[in-house]
Amino acid sequence: MDFTGKIVLITGAGNGIGRATALGFATRGATVVVVDHDHSAGEATAGIIRQQGGKSMFTRADVTKSADVQAYVKATLDAYGAIDCFYNNAGIEGSIAPTAEYDEDMFDRVMAVNVKGVFLGMRHVLPVMIRQGRGSVVNTASVAGLVGSPNMPAYVASKHAVIGLTKTASGEVGRAGVRVNAVCPGPIDTRMIHAVEAQINPADPDAVGTRYQQSIPIGRYGTAEEVANLVIFLSSDLAGNITGAQYVVDGGRTATGGAVTNAPAR
Ligand SMILES: NC(=O)c1ccc[n+]([C@@H]2O[C@H](COP(=O)([O-])OP(=O)(O)OC[C@H]3O[C@@H](n4cnc5c(N)ncnc54)[C@H](O)[C@@H]3O)[C@@H](O)[C@H]2O)c1
Repeated sequence: MDFTGKIVLITGAGNGIGRATALGFATRGATVVVVDHDHSAGEATAGIIRQQGGKSMFTRADVTKSADVQAYVKATLDAYGAIDCFYNNAGIEGSIAPTAEYDEDMFDRVMAVNVKGVFLGMRHVLPVMIRQGRGSVVNTASVAGLVGSPNMPAYVASKHAVIGLTKTASGEVGRAGVRVNAVCPGPIDTRMIHAVEAQINPADPDAVGTRYQQSIPIGRYGTAEEVANLVIFLSSDLAGNITGAQYVVDGGRTATGGAVTNAPAR
């Protein structure tokens, strides 16, 4: 998986899965454009890549704003002239509350970042890839895009929508040489999962983490690098026949529905 000479654009690359993927692409030779609304986090990711001898620049953008999205696409083209791979990854978890009590403004906010942000990214990157006659898009969905998760109605709805957008776009651009896929991480050890733990039990978030990890067949959270590996594979020429697909990377949790917690003690 050699990305020498390839231009890779990643949203939400200031932290977590986005940062790990940016570093993974860079060590395989890619030039990486880091997009995030957090200025210092985005600069830090680009700085790490440059420190390690790679090529990277940071462009600040709020993915919910069309003008910002158009600006990050333009900045990439002005600097490097192409977009080979787009990892459309920025997302937020929203609050933890049942549908019957969920805050309306929070619902709008989650949909704005997780759905409109992903749509706008494809809306402005796909025309570039169609013109080029090549390109790969990977959108970050979640296992919450495949199954329900009580008390996360906005997040679950938003991630199901990401899968719908992925399938739809893949059917539109395949003949142009562009592939569009989604990744569905389970619980991954980043800020986001710890924020969810803290919302569920502010007094003892670690207890929530322990319970979650017991429900995962491999017995632990995934790492951001493990998601990055899948994204990089899907973005590579090795995945030339893969489009319109969604891949789970969750340590087996969705396959077993948490049933491993029923295993007798040994
Ligand atoms: N961590 C998990 O357990 C997990 C599981 C499944 C899916 N995901 C998804 O993975 C993606 C990355 O999450 P993460 O775990 O790395 O979380 P994270 O909070 O560490 O990283 C998310 C990044 O997105 C950026 N961001 C948020 N809103 C933005 C906006 N409006 N404009 C630009 N940037 C914005 C943040 O500043 C941050 O750098 C998200 O889409 C998330 O839903 C995470």
